[in-house]
Amino acid sequence: MAEKKLLKRETYCGAVREEAVGRTVTVYGWVNNMRELGGLTFFDLRDREGLLQIVVNETFSSPEILKSIGKETVLAVSGLIVKRAKANSDLPSGRIELIASDIEILAASEVPPFIPENRANVSEELRFKHRYIDLRNLAMQQNFKLRSKVNLLSRNFLDKEGFLDIETPMLTNATPEGARDYLVPSRIYKGKMFALPQSPQQFKQLLMVAGFERYFQITRCFRDEDLRADRQPEFTQIDIEMSFAEPNELFAIVERLMREIFALRSRDVALPFRRLPYREAMEKYGSDKPDLRIPYQIQDFTAAARSWNSDLLNAALAEGAKVKGLVIPDAGGFSRKQLDEINETGKKLGGKGVIWMKKGDDGFKASLKIAAETIAAFYEKDRIDPGALVLLVADPEARALFLAGKLREHLGKKFQDKDRLEFLWVTDFPLFFYNEEEKRLDSNHHPFTAPSPEDIPLLESQPLAVKAIAYDLVLNGVEVGGGSKRIHDIAMQKKVFQMLNLEDKEIEDKFGFFLNALKFGAPPHLGIALGFDRLLMLLTGEDSIREIIAFPKTTSSLCLLTGSPSSVSQRQLDELGITIKK
Ligand code: AMO
Repeated sequence: MAEKKLLKRETYCGAVREEAVGRTVTVYGWVNNMRELGGLTFFDLRDREGLLQIVVNETFSSPEILKSIGKETVLAVSGLIVKRAKANSDLPSGRIELIASDIEILAASEVPPFIPENRANVSEELRFKHRYIDLRNLAMQQNFKLRSKVNLLSRNFLDKEGFLDIETPMLTNATPEGARDYLVPSRIYKGKMFALPQSPQQFKQLLMVAGFERYFQITRCFRDEDLRADRQPEFTQIDIEMSFAEPNELFAIVERLMREIFALRSRDVALPFRRLPYREAMEKYGSDKPDLRIPYQIQDFTAAARSWNSDLLNAALAEGAKVKGLVIPDAGGFSRKQLDEINETGKKLGGKGVIWMKKGDDGFKASLKIAAETIAAFYEKDRIDPGALVLLVADPEARALFLAGKLREHLGKKFQDKDRLEFLWVTDFPLFFYNEEEKRLDSNHHPFTAPSPEDIPLLESQPLAVKAIAYDLVLNGVEVGGGSKRIHDIAMQKKVFQMLNLEDKEIEDKFGFFLNALKFGAPPHLGIALGFDRLLMLLTGEDSIREIIAFPKTTSSLCLLTGSPSSVSQRQLDELGITIKK
């Protein structure tokens, strides 16, 4: 039998429009759904650009082929484009349809475990197992088209700004970014391991020492850490480093890049972005990545609370607690049940509970024993609107701010409009924090971060008061980037390593190569890394980065599609000199 000549595709299903009426066209695609109506067969054919309705009527010469067609069969279809009797305004191609004159099956499909259109109602387990079907969903196709565009736009933008795209190794030594490493055993040097990079941090700094001045890379990073909606074990960064520059110059470049990226979705980005020192972010919002769409700010009521004559508060104050609170307009909108729920939320977050005050029909009252006149006087003195609800937590300062910040987010959910963009630079992070577990100082970002020059005299005496030239880029409460000015002076770099309690031998073993480079003319430099996946999540309005990563891991770090991680053969283990502990 002579093989049938393949119908040649002319256009995408989703690209056919009214101008094509009266023409015969050929499209390829997957059968989205099929239905019979009054002796006619209808199906939508789907490709990456969208859907086109196909009609098989009595003029079709080989109707027996329909018996072999089902959901997700891949077809080539030719036919005349006509105007639909009844337009479907939900579809860009909804005014037209194709009257099939020729159909060819390009690939059969078994009954699929689910149909792409229906993914919202399918468990993540099933979707991830058959991710290639999940990805056929048209919204997913849009996400990945946008991801590709953002990638290309960023490359072109950074190229124009004079940044060079230079690749750095994936098989390397550990880079300290605060997570666990993924290790890769060496076959040749048994017992030795490469680490997959948590970031290209040291290499990009070495590229500055090498004189490239402006580097970027859109690259994969690997971190073995607990996963959440905005964390994956492998993720992508737009990684940037530049020499002879100050943070303001970098901020301006990143701000313009953000404006261009969000313009892809016709979203306006107001420049320049707001800036907020870390300390102020913590005091006002109880978070180093505040969502500025929420209008509430934390206030300190410690002084006021001293005059309330509450035994409970007095006891907490005597132990050094601070009283932090939120003033929420319209107390009338909160029922007793809701206030009890807020109190429970506070307890679940690890606090002692949430105290409330408001004016009811019978005067001011509170969830603690405080005289009505005292509350009234407090509202008046602090110029709080009598109709407002006051919520308070009393705890040691850091905890009180954390709790009030969480409460702010909890109560502010209604303001989290995805169409609003609140960008923010959080600056002046502390250089160190105290690692309770290990009983030593630890770097807040990474140990290559430069201290603020004015705080250098405090390094020995008050290390926790030393600010860093470090900044995070925050968008709508999500940390989308982080960076810093780097230490380029070997003595300072050694000092910081020592302050982290690293022994000289360990410094030499882990960072000897890097310290060496600082001996030979390391220019002043700084940089940032932007979380590419998180940016895409915010740009598409998705709630998880899993929706914009083609083959993500589950929150328990599994790839359900390939079954990785998986066992390996005894031979492979022997080659690597590895014995698995039972
Ligand atoms: P940092 O550790 O802040 O900085 O990372 C930069 C940005 O990467 C994103 N990110 C992640 N995204 C998804 N999953 C993860 N597990 C994950 N971890 C981080 C975040 C974050 O803001 N080398 C420094 C940058 C520098 O100093 O230049 C670094 O990696 O959006």
